[in-house]
Amino acid sequence: MVKAFVREDYENNKFAKASSNLYRMFVKAEGLLAFNNPAMMVAIYFCIISVSWFGAQFIVGGILTTGNLTSLFSYIMSLLMSLMMLSMVVVMITMSLASVRRIDEVLSETPDLKNPENPVEAVEDGSIDFNHVDFSYQQGSGKSALSGIDLHIKSGETIGVIGGTGSGKSTLVNLICRLYDVDSGSVQVGGRDVREYDMEALRNQVSVVLQKNTLFSGTILENLRWGNPEATDEECAQACRAACADEFIDRLPDGYHTRIERGGANVSGGQKQRLCIARALLKKPKVLILDDSTSAVDTATDARIRAAFAREIPGTTKIIIAQRISSVEDADRILVLDDGRVDAFDTHENLLKSNAIYREIYESQVKGGGDFDQPA
Ligand SMILES: Nc1ncnc2c1ncn2[C@@H]1O[C@H](COP(=O)(O)OP(=O)(O)OP(=O)(O)O)[C@@H](O)[C@H]1O
Ligand SMILES: [Mg+2]
Repeated sequence: MVKAFVREDYENNKFAKASSNLYRMFVKAEGLLAFNNPAMMVAIYFCIISVSWFGAQFIVGGILTTGNLTSLFSYIMSLLMSLMMLSMVVVMITMSLASVRRIDEVLSETPDLKNPENPVEAVEDGSIDFNHVDFSYQQGSGKSALSGIDLHIKSGETIGVIGGTGSGKSTLVNLICRLYDVDSGSVQVGGRDVREYDMEALRNQVSVVLQKNTLFSGTILENLRWGNPEATDEECAQACRAACADEFIDRLPDGYHTRIERGGANVSGGQKQRLCIARALLKKPKVLILDDSTSAVDTATDARIRAAFAREIPGTTKIIIAQRISSVEDADRILVLDDGRVDAFDTHENLLKSNAIYREIYESQVKGGGDFDQPA
């Protein structure tokens, strides 16, 4: 990004500023520390000289023996050494206090979402209900991302979601796996409020491929097993077949043992999306949510993936968010979102007849306004 926008100088300056700040602070701190050592040395030698001076006089006066003076020396030396150590400890404590304060900030941070007292572990089925849901990201900001959402989805249905950018599609599905809590109303999965479930159990049974999906450094198999640590090689391969990821994995020299770089840097956008879908499938979820997860996959593969869903996980409720009409038109019902509100929720045919927004999107994509390589 930096290269593409020719922002090297700007970024360099930003870094230089930050590091020179750090440099100045360190020089100041080390300057004070450097003063500590000579000060201690002056004190030590001052003591030694004074003890020698007075000790010699006492020996001459017969009050002290040479042996006494020698033991006096060793007492004083160990006392001074300990004092020196103590001064170092004080310095160390001051330094670590600064770190302790920062660590404490992190440790004492409490998450907004809490597990209930007696959490429900099992999700009954894949039905989803939104009951008059309002939601805003900043509570009290007055700007709501979703308002008055009332939806009832039966278990096993395939639902398409379509709407302009910022219309609240991602927000809607994030509420289902309880990444956020609603402001008012309720979201139910399997007939129970999502706030009654153990969060881990809920998320294990509601599988979501986020719009900003990521892979982690490790082999393909390791990445797939994020979905299910106990999955066998064959189960992983089957999930990849359903997600149409097998075709490119088989062409890799190391196959399923190919290393993925951090963030999936060494696979293409479409390959990454397919791996993320396979990973979500491995959970064998009751609800599968794909948030624009086939946007970088060609239309034909997209159709194959959807056909595989219908074949492999017929009982799973599938929610497919897409920008392309072709990705959602064969869904049981399609939800049209507009500015955080439900504009319509019906089948493809009915929407074409009755919904202006849907018809507009459809016409812009089908009548020559679609892919540029298709003849108008
Ligand atoms: N983490 C966030 N914090 C604050 N506001 C947010 C956050 N995420 C989204 N929003 C706002 O909520 C609204 C809905 O966003 P959302 O991500 O649901 O849109 P979307 O329909 O998924 O869009 P797209 O098609 O671009 O993915 C937008 O106005 C957006 O600015
Ligand atoms: Mg989105």
